[in-house]
Amino acid sequence: MHPTLRGLPEDILICQLSYDDEIDGSWKRFLTDAEIDRRAGMKNEGRKRSFTLGRVALRSLLAGHLGIQPRDVALIVEESGRLACPNSGLYLSLAHSGDQAIAIAAPRNVGVDMEVIREKPEALLNYILADGERQHIKELPLDVTHSLFLCWTLKEAVLKANGTGLRRSPKKVELEIDLEAGSALATDPEGQSWTARFTIEKEYVLSLAFESNLQ
Ligand SMILES: CC(C)(COP(=O)(O)OP(=O)(O)OC[C@H]1O[C@@H](n2cnc3c(N)ncnc32)[C@H](O)[C@@H]1OP(=O)(O)O)[C@@H](O)C(=O)NCCC(=O)NCCS
Repeated sequence: MHPTLRGLPEDILICQLSYDDEIDGSWKRFLTDAEIDRRAGMKNEGRKRSFTLGRVALRSLLAGHLGIQPRDVALIVEESGRLACPNSGLYLSLAHSGDQAIAIAAPRNVGVDMEVIREKPEALLNYILADGERQHIKELPLDVTHSLFLCWTLKEAVLKANGTGLRRSPKKVELEIDLEAGSALATDPEGQSWTARFTIEKEYVLSLAFESNLQ
């Protein structure tokens, strides 16, 4: 369940967190020694916080589901950069932006992206849109910034579910958005279809993509 994402399949588990004093004082209880070492090697404070928050969210989520301690959850980073929990039967995805992070897990393939809304060059919207979807996106009752963040998060959520991330151009993901329903259909570069749900909040846009054929 999520407070503002509507129509999600019930098998998708979600944990969304903000970085606060409680996390600042307790994160060491959640991370493994290897993750604490990895964190120590990060030079950028923002990256340290987002890495920490993402791992706390994911480990809390999986610990609750598997009935074990957060530090005991087996997590591996695949060659693509994607996270996996071996033998759990779950697909994982993680996103962080600003002081927010969201982790999801499901027995179906899933991807999530979240971006804090900030000023971006208008040209970026054209850069990420496929020729075939440009008209549809420009007709949505949204300003350019919100269109950009909505399309960007939807496309990145699909590319994370697909496992390629931004090795593939966002242009190669085609969207059909139903703004009122908070949902979208997407086709990835391999021609696979995905369903997505999104929420546009005051500070951020959050999109979640999942395999369509299972619901
Ligand atoms: C996945 C990717 C789109 C995330 O971009 P981002 O907006 O910077 O970061 P987000 O917060 O949205 O997501 C980050 C999380 O995505 C996950 N992720 C990384 N690569 C992934 C992939 N190929 N597929 C799915 N998920 C991936 C990781 O869990 C990562 O969090 P972590 O590093 O704390 O473990 C981007 O990192 C990417 O495309 N990576 C693959 C290509 C690559 O490695 N390029 C190197 C630089 S050119």
